[in-house]
Amino acid sequence: MINRSHLPAIVLLSVFFPLTSTAAIIKGPYLQSPQQHSITVDAEVDDGSDCIIKWGDNLENTSPMVGESPHREVRIKSLKASTCYRYHVECGADTSPEASFCTAPTSEEPFRVVIFGDTRSDHQAHSELIDAIAEENPDVFFNTGDLVSDGQDEDEWNEFFNIEGELLRDVPMMPVVGNHDEHNGEIPIYGRLFSVPMESSGVDNYYSVTYGNAHFIILDNQADNLGRPKDNTSEGQWLENELQSSSDNPALDFIFVLVHENMYSVKDGRAGDEGLRLWRDKFVQLGVDAVISGHDHHYVRGWADNGLPFVVSGGGGAPLYDVSEDFATQGQEKDVSVWGWLPEPGDKQFKVIWTKKEHNYLVLDFQGKTLDICAKEVPTGHTGKGISFDCWTYEKGQKPEPDQKGDEKSGCGCRSQGTSSGAILLGGVFLAVLFRRKLRRSR
Ligand SMILES: [Fe+2]
Repeated sequence: MINRSHLPAIVLLSVFFPLTSTAAIIKGPYLQSPQQHSITVDAEVDDGSDCIIKWGDNLENTSPMVGESPHREVRIKSLKASTCYRYHVECGADTSPEASFCTAPTSEEPFRVVIFGDTRSDHQAHSELIDAIAEENPDVFFNTGDLVSDGQDEDEWNEFFNIEGELLRDVPMMPVVGNHDEHNGEIPIYGRLFSVPMESSGVDNYYSVTYGNAHFIILDNQADNLGRPKDNTSEGQWLENELQSSSDNPALDFIFVLVHENMYSVKDGRAGDEGLRLWRDKFVQLGVDAVISGHDHHYVRGWADNGLPFVVSGGGGAPLYDVSEDFATQGQEKDVSVWGWLPEPGDKQFKVIWTKKEHNYLVLDFQGKTLDICAKEVPTGHTGKGISFDCWTYEKGQKPEPDQKGDEKSGCGCRSQGTSSGAILLGGVFLAVLFRRKLRRSR
């Protein structure tokens, strides 16, 4: 035991004979690209140390992590679907806390996804959101872009990992490129940090990932290279093929497009991404269920003129935006549906049914062909799970009702609406499976 009277001498000695630091791991480990039989584990080191991962019921498996310093990563393959494994990472003399990774569920199993974005600059708000999201126990979560304010600033990424690191150790996060993440069309730090599935696109700024029975198509609309459908841009051509192949895949019940800037905007002076908007008929034709985005720092739900639903969730920590008076009262939700007009006079294009100027995230609970979605707010200082303010159930193939509006009650309540005995039974099975997965994770 150290006696207090010895402290000055210890401090003096440490000045002349500094203790050797054993902390080599500066980011991570963190999880990427979860699939049914594989997952990627990443870490970053500050001293060039080699890293290994030990994983399995008794940490009996060892795999080297490779990469150009400071990055280290490994793709672990031949795993069982919907299964959690213990792991830790060793880099030099540094060992990470023990954690667990879980593979993606099969297309028949329920699962939970969280989506939010624009985490950028308000670190307190970002932290409170991450605490709330951790309590939701998601299987995977997405960031809709603008993870940091300046994607070229290593310190900002360090802060990002300080805030999200503990959650990222157990839950894979898949990112979308935002305008603040890139610089002159390049994403060197973002590209180094995130190991997204590049099998279909061959690049890391747009890609797709299948999780359970849902397919997520992640686009990069910052380079304005989506153009028009059938244009010869590489991303446009890839998107065309991606939509067709996912539409033809019988194992997929849901297809989502995740992108930073939405088709529409309810912020004064913004009109949304015209290039993306031009895809909306193709999206409906090939079965896209919704476009989910960030960029505007608030919450919006609505649909395009062709019935394509969209959600904006960009309240992750960037300065909150007022909603145009056309769509809100004092920046809060307006209680009637409102048609929006693009800058072109008389060009009625989209309908808005919910807006909210607050930090927020989405919880998506998938179960078969039914999807329960809840938008939750996390006001400054709030602790625990977010407060539900817009919840609705989406049945595959269901056309949105013109004035459908979600449940405003506190506490999600999604499952309690119109509950039948069959729904209670299904809910019980769903919770039992979630509990089983949680138990596996907590071993
Ligand atoms: Fe943005």
